[in-house]
Amino acid sequence: MEQTYIMIKPDGVQRGLIGEIVSRIEKRGLKVAAMRLGVMSAESAKEHYREHAERPFFASLIEYVTSGPSVSMVVEGKNAIAIMRAVNGATNPVNAAPGTIRGDFAIETGRNVVHASDSPESAKREISIHFKGSEIVSYSKIDEVCLY
Ligand code: PPS
Repeated sequence: MEQTYIMIKPDGVQRGLIGEIVSRIEKRGLKVAAMRLGVMSAESAKEHYREHAERPFFASLIEYVTSGPSVSMVVEGKNAIAIMRAVNGATNPVNAAPGTIRGDFAIETGRNVVHASDSPESAKREISIHFKGSEIVSYSKIDEVCLY
């Protein structure tokens, strides 16, 4: 069982896509184990994207993800990291296949609606930036419990 960090970026929230995106995650069979709506602090955003600190787009990326409310989630399930990268689609929406979130809802990298951790190491690091352990809950979905 894996956990991954997902962000619905401010453009996704502004466009009313929270329900659509959470629905795609749940319908795929993954579970939301933590979720928060709020404006990300510049400190958290810089820590989150620190590996890109020297890239030319860093300042505009930080401005973008802190520009309004975003949704932070921990999503859990078998192969959750790879599956959520596939559900989101390619980073540059030009290359994102139809049927993916970016392929259906985005047209440029600078407004690509969602983020997902790209490796187990990133997932662990990103989850620890955005959530305390006590905010991540453990529960069984209906298809995981035997009622009879
Ligand atoms: S990747 O997936 O790490 O290989 O993608 P990469 O191209 O290296 O981009 C790293 C993150 O920076 C975001 N990005 C940008 N944001 C704003 N403006 C511009 N021009 C831009 N270029 C790249 C990109 O969306 C990646 O963030 P996430 O949140 O992972 O999508």
